[in-house]
Amino acid sequence: MNLPNMQEAKRRDLNTHYRYEAPLVNNQFKDQKYFIKTYGCQMNVHDSEEIAGLLENLGYVPATSELDADLIILNTCAIRENAHDKVFGFLGRCKHLKKENKNLKLVLCGCMAQEKSVVDEIMEHHTYIDLVFGTHNIHELPNYLMNLKAGLNIEVKSNEGDVIEVGENFKRDSQYVAWINIMYGCDKFCTYCIVPYTRGKERSRKMEDVLREVNCLKEKGYKEVTLLGQNVNAYGHDLEDGTTFAKLLENVALTGMDRIRFVTSHPWNFTDEMIDIIAKYPNIMPYIHLPLQSGSDRILKLMGRRYTKAEYLALFHKMKERIPHVSITTDIIVGFPNESDADFEETLKVVDECQFDGAFTFIYSPREGTPAAKMTDSIPLAIKEERLHRLNEIVNKYSNMNNQKYLDKIVPVLLVGPSEKGQDKLYGYTDTMKLVNVQCDKALEGQIVPVKITEAKSFSLDGIVAEK
Ligand code: 5AD
Ligand code: SF4
Repeated sequence: MNLPNMQEAKRRDLNTHYRYEAPLVNNQFKDQKYFIKTYGCQMNVHDSEEIAGLLENLGYVPATSELDADLIILNTCAIRENAHDKVFGFLGRCKHLKKENKNLKLVLCGCMAQEKSVVDEIMEHHTYIDLVFGTHNIHELPNYLMNLKAGLNIEVKSNEGDVIEVGENFKRDSQYVAWINIMYGCDKFCTYCIVPYTRGKERSRKMEDVLREVNCLKEKGYKEVTLLGQNVNAYGHDLEDGTTFAKLLENVALTGMDRIRFVTSHPWNFTDEMIDIIAKYPNIMPYIHLPLQSGSDRILKLMGRRYTKAEYLALFHKMKERIPHVSITTDIIVGFPNESDADFEETLKVVDECQFDGAFTFIYSPREGTPAAKMTDSIPLAIKEERLHRLNEIVNKYSNMNNQKYLDKIVPVLLVGPSEKGQDKLYGYTDTMKLVNVQCDKALEGQIVPVKITEAKSFSLDGIVAEK
């Protein structure tokens, strides 16, 4: 596998950073222990993998928990307000650990670090933190640690032009399934969402770089890749060479990787070409996460979502028709400012029509600096909670109903690791992203095996390896 070296990278694209290939610089951190606590979405989980790789390159080894760590990193999420309280609660406990371990360093990174109000709060009340760094400069972490000054170090950038390339030796949590960032940031500016402010504008990686990474993972024996972006449909828009997500997906399929997934898709510019490509290649998994957010046209407009209920439904049904046994999940927000009972009923109608395989549901949380946070809101929290409860009951009913269709069927499952449901079990996923706990020989870990489904519950399936 030939990865470009640093010099080539600089010539090719000044805004591209290569990292992870750096040799151990000195023994400053040798055998020190790190612990990373990750909040939020898959993008953050993947960033934490990258951070772990950078630290191990420096000589750090993993700690078992925050209690025996010399370096604690909180990789934070800003999407909803409650994450803020959890993070500062955890930090407060870590502050006490500093009394026992004088060398302990506390670091905060991720989306909250990009919020000015959070940085102000840290400078005023949490100066026991050693380092704050943002989402645009993860690759600088080794430099920051090597040159850490006493007291609080703040390294947050609003530089939005960068695209990050990982090296061949990039360490991942799994040997079988891998996340691949295909783009960074989001330009959609949905009125409730903080992501465009914390992650910056849309920047796509070059197709050749993504394909190189997929091929490299295939050579290493990986069975599945998930292409990651806040809105993967927008992939390529900034490259100006005609590259589209459909083209990327097709080329990734042609690498022969066993399983290909992607998240997240905005319903607004999900093209027919994308649907055709998903339907055409059996190694592109029939699973689409398609956030609805609301079923009311009035609320969708206030949210700045760029589609109507009818357009969402038309897309949903087209996917169901054209992609054999596709499973579709969604995100829904209840209690957007001034959402009326009638608006909420519209959402329930869409849920009844789509009968989603699953849904992540949230109560709207105002985020400072977003347009929706300035809207007045007359709906009491108790009503929002009641709506969430009602919605969840309906959503769970349909997840269960969809899962029951798997009973007694034989389906291919990629077994990814030991199951929490018993010593003799591994867990894995169907092509449609259903979690399955499988009674089987542990040696099957990492393989795609036919599994007979013996029990179907709302959030998971049970199965045994089917006779061949
Ligand atoms: N309040 C509640 N939920 C939100 N989401 C994004 N921003 C907010 C907010 N301010 C939800 C959306 C999105 C998911 C990742 O989080 O449903 O799709
Ligand atoms: Fe946020 Fe909307 Fe972008 Fe999704 S598409 S990350 S909800 S702004």
